[in-house]
Amino acid sequence: MNKSTIPANVVEVDTSVPVWGQFFTVAPLVLVGTRDADGSLDLAPKHMVTPMGWQNYFGFVCSPQHGTCSNIERTGVFTVSYPRPSQVLYTSLAATPRDAHGDKLILDYFKTFPAKEVDGEFIEDGYLFFECRHFKTVDGFGDNCLITGEIVAAWGDRDFLRRAEADDQETIHEAPLLAYLHPGRFATIDRSNGFPFPEAMKK
Ligand SMILES: Cc1cc2nc3c(=O)[nH]c(=O)nc-3n(C[C@H](O)[C@H](O)[C@H](O)COP(=O)(O)O)c2cc1C
Repeated sequence: MNKSTIPANVVEVDTSVPVWGQFFTVAPLVLVGTRDADGSLDLAPKHMVTPMGWQNYFGFVCSPQHGTCSNIERTGVFTVSYPRPSQVLYTSLAATPRDAHGDKLILDYFKTFPAKEVDGEFIEDGYLFFECRHFKTVDGFGDNCLITGEIVAAWGDRDFLRRAEADDQETIHEAPLLAYLHPGRFATIDRSNGFPFPEAMKK
């Protein structure tokens, strides 16, 4: 490999503050569903979200100050709903701060349906839904923690699921995906290309 100096177009990013506000990155956007202590539904948008490996584990980064984190510690379960691009406003409104009584009254306007294997709810009109049992929480990423769960049941709108008889490009075109472009932008993905994997690559 050839090594030379830093290219002229590359400038240093300031690490004395968090780097993440200084450029855009592509992220998923989901609503994590939990139960507050009084049994009411809580939904909170999360973009720091990832599969945890190739098996059925899901993870997201959360502030321990958030209801979501304490709810999961207490109940041991959570749900994940993936909103469609048309639901971006709903998704954002779920981050409305709690009132003086600790309630998020905006959630009364959300239509939901129940999970089957865990005590939880999903947003109606989402396209992908996971029921998760809490697996592990790892504290200490600055002020944040990584919460992981095992996906014990999953549901999907059939238009969004891959089908043997359909071309993947058509599936994405006909059922577009929502991308969060941190910080503060979003995009609708309805066009895509096949990824140019190297021959004989093993995952
Ligand atoms: C677009 C968007 C993305 C967000 N991503 C995250 C995230 O990845 N992790 C997090 O802890 N909070 C995230 N938040 C903030 C929480 O969703 C918000 O503070 C929420 O009200 C917490 O609710 P809770 O106290 O019911 O858990 C995000 C908010 C928005 C609007």
